[in-house]
Amino acid sequence: MKVLAFESSCDETSVALLDSGHLKGHVTRTQSLHQAFGGVVPELASRSHLEQIMPLTRQALAEADESLDDVEGVCATAGPGLVGALLVGLNFGKGIALALGVPFLAVHHLEAHLWAAELDGTMMPLPFLALLVSGGHTQLVLVEGFGCYRVLGATRDDAVGEAYDKVGKLLGLDFPAGGTVDRIAREGDPAFQRFPRVRTGEGFDFSYSGLKTAMLRVVERLSPDQIEEHRADLLAGFQEAAIASLLGRLRPAIEHFQPKAVVLAGGVAANSLLQREVQAMGTELLLPVFCPTPSFIPDNAAMIAYVGEKRLAAGERSSLDAPAKPRWPLEDLREPSAPGD
Ligand code: KG4
Ligand code: ZN
Repeated sequence: MKVLAFESSCDETSVALLDSGHLKGHVTRTQSLHQAFGGVVPELASRSHLEQIMPLTRQALAEADESLDDVEGVCATAGPGLVGALLVGLNFGKGIALALGVPFLAVHHLEAHLWAAELDGTMMPLPFLALLVSGGHTQLVLVEGFGCYRVLGATRDDAVGEAYDKVGKLLGLDFPAGGTVDRIAREGDPAFQRFPRVRTGEGFDFSYSGLKTAMLRVVERLSPDQIEEHRADLLAGFQEAAIASLLGRLRPAIEHFQPKAVVLAGGVAANSLLQREVQAMGTELLLPVFCPTPSFIPDNAAMIAYVGEKRLAAGERSSLDAPAKPRWPLEDLREPSAPGD
């Protein structure tokens, strides 16, 4: 089945054409216009998606060497995300599905992240435990099947990617800062400044606002020259604490739920320390660890097409009235269902 997919939930506009699991065309544009504001400005994001979506669609179709008439199904991210941004891809997708008379499917952005590691052809064993870490979410999810998700824990305040971005901003880095913090931290000495490991009691929840505030306090104490001199050390200390908090939840969850694999998902899955530490944990506990190939780690339409095609192929359809859902709990999802089921 040839599926055309759209992703516009935040600051990436992306279009993909997937043909029975094979990615034939895929273009993603990251909006750099937010850099100057130190965070995503929703109104600007929506306008930029509007400008980009048509040319990117032409580009993805050209790359795939297909025309719109070849498309047999359309899917688009419906949530969670910024409502104005979501509406661009969602309505564009619905319009194309309506014009072509082909089925439409509204896709859950986080479900797409969960399965992105399969885009290179690997099949992940079930159940798997996913660490879903992005700019908007930090969750531990037990995946028992396609559409069967148990959220074991989530952040009580900031997401881990958000903490990276805010701490990067405090130290004068451009938004989004996660990748840069990761790179600079590798050169630093984490022992220069220890940061607290956040405790959220029993269970599998996370918390990142305390770590961000701890960095603010340290920065307030130092002179601009000292900050300049020790930027890498401060970031190394922050990164060590940020990743340790994730690992401190992951290990007991593995021990308790005995999954068949561990999966990294979401933009922070690109983090070098996280990847190294989770691989080491997997080796120690004899568990395979999956992480998407680098181009499928940040927001992208290929992952939207992947889960959308699975649901469309199983007969599931979304109505053309399907709303954008800025908040959409993963646990509301079900296994694919044919219309009328
Ligand atoms: O999944 P994603 O592309 O968008 C959301 O759905 O949020 O994740 C983006 C987040 C940003 O906060 C960015 O700073 C962070 O992922 N990020 C990283 C790294 N690369 C991207 N955080 C830590 N280390 C990285 N290497
Ligand atoms: Zn995302």
